[in-house]
Amino acid sequence: MRNFASYLRVIFIVTLVTFAAEYFIDSGEKPAFLTFKEVPIFLTLFTIVLIAIEIMIASMNNLTNAIMTEEQKERLAEKARIASENIWYKKLYHKLLDQKPIEAEGEIELDHNYDGIKELDNNLPPWWIYGFYLTIIFAVVYLVRYHILGADNQKAEYDKEMAIAKAAIEEYKKTAKDLVDASTVEFLSGEADLAAGKLIFDNNCVACHMADGGGGIGPNLTDDHWILGGGIKNIFNTVAEGGRDGKGMVAWKQSLKPIEIAQVSSYIMTLHGTTPANPKDPEGDIWVDENAPAQDAPATEVEQNEEPIQE
Ligand code: HEC
Repeated sequence: MRNFASYLRVIFIVTLVTFAAEYFIDSGEKPAFLTFKEVPIFLTLFTIVLIAIEIMIASMNNLTNAIMTEEQKERLAEKARIASENIWYKKLYHKLLDQKPIEAEGEIELDHNYDGIKELDNNLPPWWIYGFYLTIIFAVVYLVRYHILGADNQKAEYDKEMAIAKAAIEEYKKTAKDLVDASTVEFLSGEADLAAGKLIFDNNCVACHMADGGGGIGPNLTDDHWILGGGIKNIFNTVAEGGRDGKGMVAWKQSLKPIEIAQVSSYIMTLHGTTPANPKDPEGDIWVDENAPAQDAPATEVEQNEEPIQE
């Protein structure tokens, strides 16, 4: 056990056997060398035997070395040298470098001599030349592909991908209507949405607000006056969260989906300005949409609203 290689050999074989033991011995959750005490004992003995073998080989080498003549030793070294020269990666390495061995440098020496500085006429290293040929091939392919056949450059690729992503987002928005809440809701003017809203209203709300929105237990939904604030966002919030405690308007978010709340709220918006059969007296304050462009109603009224939701 004198040299580094024998240490490496021992460590390598022991590691291999340890892993093999873990792999082949079925020991459940725990590692095999904890579960069965035979495993560590075996591994220790195995390591000792390996070390012993290495020591034996080393001393045998010493012994042969001692009884060999100088000539025999030289022949052995020469054999080993030739064998190592013939390994494939060494051959490849030399081929790729194409270097003259230092003893043969005289053959390629150029005949000028600048104050003792001489020049060698080495071949270009083949690895470098092959690399150079590769760049030429690459350049031709590139030129034909991008400048003659007109393949997409980075900008065109980017634009295309952005367009695809935008389309995907639109698609997602279509299927994800339920993502709407009081802060993002918009008035839905589509006929289908308003028809759905009317249906929801007829099924759930007429008992208190009347079919025409004129009001009963609940307030009139057709006039300018709102207890909890008008406009799509306030209405959505009222329907979702309910009215003031004890007034009878429940939070509909338990039974209606967000999109349904948006639909019925939009439908309520369309009732504004209609004339119900038995309109209930106005309750609350005149609501003014702060975001609407032109308003003639007094702005102070806005502040008196009970709980208007601002964006
Ligand atoms: C049980 C009776 C009842 C039902 C059913 C009912 N509401 Fe109401 N609603 C009320 C009452 C009472 C109020 C007043 C709440 C308050 O004063 O806080 C109200 C208020 C409202 C308001 C706010 C009005 C304002 O002036 O701010 C809206 C909008 C509304 N309801 C929509 C609906 C919708 C949509 C439905 C059906 C999904 C519905 N309501 C079902 C009783 C009802």
